[in-house]
Amino acid sequence: SKLKIGLIPADGIGREVIPAAQAALEALGSDIPKPEFTHLLAGFEYFQRKGEALPDETVETLRESDCALFGAVSSPSKKVTGYSSPIVALRKILDLYANVRPVVSVADTPGGKPAVDLIVVRENTECLYVKQETLEHGPHGKEARATRLITERASRRIGRMAFELALNRPRKHVTIIHKSNVLSVTDGLFRETVRAVPALEDGRYDEVTIAEQLVDSAVYRLFREPHIYDVMVAPNLYGDIISDAAAALVGSLGLVPSVNAGDTFVMGEPVHGSAPDIAGQGIANPIASIRSAALMLRHLGYSKGADRIDKAVDEVVREGTVSTPDLGGKSKTQEVTDEIVKRI
Ligand code: NAI
Ligand code: MG
Repeated sequence: SKLKIGLIPADGIGREVIPAAQAALEALGSDIPKPEFTHLLAGFEYFQRKGEALPDETVETLRESDCALFGAVSSPSKKVTGYSSPIVALRKILDLYANVRPVVSVADTPGGKPAVDLIVVRENTECLYVKQETLEHGPHGKEARATRLITERASRRIGRMAFELALNRPRKHVTIIHKSNVLSVTDGLFRETVRAVPALEDGRYDEVTIAEQLVDSAVYRLFREPHIYDVMVAPNLYGDIISDAAAALVGSLGLVPSVNAGDTFVMGEPVHGSAPDIAGQGIANPIASIRSAALMLRHLGYSKGADRIDKAVDEVVREGTVSTPDLGGKSKTQEVTDEIVKRI
C-alpha cells in the first residue's frame, strides 16, 4: 500500500521548507508505506495570479489523500476583496478541529530556556476565526464589530483531544486557558465544557489533573516557569498567541511543528508563517516542517518513522554545527535538510 500525501507549500518560505519535509519522509524507506506525493496549489500568490486562493482541485485531491503537509500563507493585513486565507478555510472544510502544537526544548539550543516540554492544543474552527466582521458608521465615526463563536460541541471535542494527549504523557496535566473573568459567556462556556469532559468518560481520565489559568497570566507564567505546563488547551485565538510565545522559549519559531487534526484527516503545518523578511534567501529553518511531518506520522500511528525523524533532528539541533541564522548559525535550508536526511 501507499501513503498518499498532499503537499501545499503555498507562499514565501512555505515553498522552501515543504521540500525539506518531503525529503525527510522519503528517507524513511520501509518504516512507512511508500509515500506518494501530490503537489497542490493554494495561497495569496496563487490568488493574485488566478483570482482564487484555494482551487477546488486542491480540496478534492486532499479528500482522496491520507494526509497532507501545508507550508504557510501570506495574508494581507488589509482586506483584499475576494481573498480569504486558504489555511483557515481548509481547517473548516476538512473539519480539522484541533491544532496540536508541541513545544519542546532541546538542551542548549541558543536562546532557549531549559525544560520546556508542553503541548498547546488550540481549537481550530471557531472563536474570532469565524470572521464575521462588520463596519458601520456611528454617530462618532466608524464602528467595527466581530463575532466570537464558542460552541459546546467544539469545546467538548477539543477538550477530549487535550485529555487524550495528556493520558499519553508522563505528567498527565491539563491547563485550561481562558478569560472568563471578562468574557464570562463565551470563555465561560469553553471553560465549563472542557472541565466537564472527564465526567462524560467514566473514569478514563481519572489520572489527569486539571488546572486553569487566565490567558494573560498564563503568558506571564509561561515565560517565568514554563515547566509548570504540560497540555494547554485554549480557544482559537489564545492558542495561536500562546504557541508563538512558547516558540520563543525554545529558541525559534523555525523549530515548532503542528498538526491540524480531525477524526479522519491530519495535516502537518509549521507554526510559523510565510516569513517575507527572509523568503527567497534559502535560509529558512526547515526543522518546524520536518518535525510537522513526524508529528503527522505519529497521528497516523507510524511512530517508528516519527521517532527516526525526531531523533535525527534532535541530534542536529543539539550539536549545533549545522544551523540556520535564526539559531545563530550560517547554514542554508538545504544544508540543514541534508544533514538531517543523512542521519535519518
Ligand atoms: P512569521 O511566522 O512568518 O515570521 C515571524 C518571524 O519569525 C520573522 O522574523 C521570520 O523571519 C521568523 N521565522 C518564521 N519562520 C522561520 C523559519 N522557518 N526560519 C527562520 N526564521 C523564521 O510571522 P509574520 O511575519 O507575523 O507573518 C508573515 C506572514 O505569514 C503574514 O502574511 C501572516 O499572515 C502569515 N502567517 C501565516 C500563517 C500560516 O500560514 N498558518 C501563520 C502565521 C502567519
Ligand atoms: Mg500563529
